[in-house]
Amino acid sequence: MGNAVRELLEFYVDAGVDCALLDAPQDRFAESAAEKAKRGKTTSAKPNQEPVQANIDTPQPVLQAIAKIPNEEVIANAQTLAKAADSLEILRKSLEGFTGCNLKNYAKNTVFADGNPQAKIMLIGEAPGRDEDIQGLPFVGRSGQLLDRMLKAIGLDRKSVYITNVIPWRPPGNRTPTPVETELCRPFIERHIELVAPDILVLIGASSAKTLTGRSEGIMRMRGRWTTYKCGSRDIPVMPIFHPAYLLRQPAQKRLAWQDLLTIKRKMEEITEVS
Ligand code: URA
Repeated sequence: MGNAVRELLEFYVDAGVDCALLDAPQDRFAESAAEKAKRGKTTSAKPNQEPVQANIDTPQPVLQAIAKIPNEEVIANAQTLAKAADSLEILRKSLEGFTGCNLKNYAKNTVFADGNPQAKIMLIGEAPGRDEDIQGLPFVGRSGQLLDRMLKAIGLDRKSVYITNVIPWRPPGNRTPTPVETELCRPFIERHIELVAPDILVLIGASSAKTLTGRSEGIMRMRGRWTTYKCGSRDIPVMPIFHPAYLLRQPAQKRLAWQDLLTIKRKMEEITEVS
């Protein structure tokens, strides 16, 4: 591959354009030129240039055909499926079979969870990124490696914690999930928490913290303070923490992240003492 092409591809990947939506390129300029021509207008072609010939027979992208506008029925279906799941395996299968969230159309994998479902501590991030989508596991990219080091610092690892995300499909280009996407996935993450029934919930980053606490403050205000998550008749202690991706960009904030990790460690010790 020539250098120029490689650099262009690297530029696209850095910008988050790293998945093909169709098998063949679609020339949108040609399409709009053809539309204009059909309406009797001239194209923007320069006087001595051939007008762009659009292939108006190009089939519509497959994704347009399968993308759905989410409605209340789809949310109700998500709730029914999630409620009916009485084991993690069934919940995983239900998510894999759920077609109501368009994010799934672009994702390579449904990223369900990693770690120990018997763990006392459950960590929940926002949504998979590129590496997670490829490997089908949460937090395995750069931010996941930092998360592993953070856990190790307080004596934890993937055998002693359980990790998942609010959204199990990677949003294209790692964009923030929309409120509708979040609401479609909410019944599944709520059921996921019920089935794991952890003693402590750690919410990784602002998006997960806002979704699962229902609070609107920023992560700066929420981090480091215990709150509770209502899970049936239980109140689970919840600690929002900075997202490791943020810490990679703002390493000076690791000082506060360390304080939060120590707070979590103390809570784990308290819980172990009383049990
Ligand atoms: N960021 C997340 O929130 N979750 C992942 O799994 C990876 C990156």
